[in-house]
Amino acid sequence: MRALPYDALATIYDCWIQGDPARKACHDFYVRWATSQAGGVVEIGVGTGEIAIRIAHGGCNVVGIDVSEPMLRLCSTKVIREGVAHRVALCRMNAMQLGLCNVERIILPFRTVGHFTEREQRLELFKQIRGSLRPGGLFVFDHYVLDREWAAEIAGKQTLMFESTAEDERLRILDSYEFDFGRGIMDCSVQIESSRHSNKTIREVNFEFAWVEPVEIRRQVLAAGFEVVEVYGNFDRAEFASTSEQQIWVLRRPEQARSRI
Ligand SMILES: C[S@@+](CC[C@H](N)C(=O)[O-])C[C@H]1O[C@@H](n2cnc3c(N)ncnc32)[C@H](O)[C@@H]1O
Repeated sequence: MRALPYDALATIYDCWIQGDPARKACHDFYVRWATSQAGGVVEIGVGTGEIAIRIAHGGCNVVGIDVSEPMLRLCSTKVIREGVAHRVALCRMNAMQLGLCNVERIILPFRTVGHFTEREQRLELFKQIRGSLRPGGLFVFDHYVLDREWAAEIAGKQTLMFESTAEDERLRILDSYEFDFGRGIMDCSVQIESSRHSNKTIREVNFEFAWVEPVEIRRQVLAAGFEVVEVYGNFDRAEFASTSEQQIWVLRRPEQARSRI
């Protein structure tokens, strides 16, 4: 499997995502959704555990899986520090080869689906998730709907995502994106500038990310054997519309068909 960017982003991940305007609403949505129903939840792409830990504080058990060991290591430290180790189990696993069965609820939050950049990969991901659920089990994930005007405006420019104010230890994180509209792919570059006293280092992490039109997602989730329960257009659960900035899919693995004999 291709190297993923998160090994190199792990130590700055929690700072980096503070600059994302959708983070809070997105995280709040999953915490509310998971804790408002009985039963545990599996979070695919648990990362450093921002969502999982809040769900655990809300009284639900969580299994967090991730392919990045550095992200899981940080997550584990936070889980212990937050006193929720009795509610959170972590496992290094690739979502393309899920070794799970009979799961009641699976979430794939914060646009993680965009890391599956090829159509065939996404279809396989959806099939893996469907196969891991019990009949009637639910799967929720989100992605944004690309705003082409926004894309044209910010292409090639740097956006400041985080800046620390500490005197002798500074950190600045800047994102920039290039868009390939034909392929539906963004080339993302994260520039990390850190300085300690007079020692300054700059490193860059680059990766591809896919945006996916809602019509394609619908086609693929149906092909993977899901039923669509809801599609929201925002994290406040407004119904999806052609002007929506987000697409939040609530899917169900159908109950088993009744035997004819
Ligand atoms: C955008 S982060 C989301 C982290 C966390 N859910 C949050 O909301 O802050 C995406 C996460 O998905 C993980 N990931 C990417 N591809 C994966 C794969 N094939 N299998 C499992 N995890 C994967 C990354 O390592 C990363 O931790």
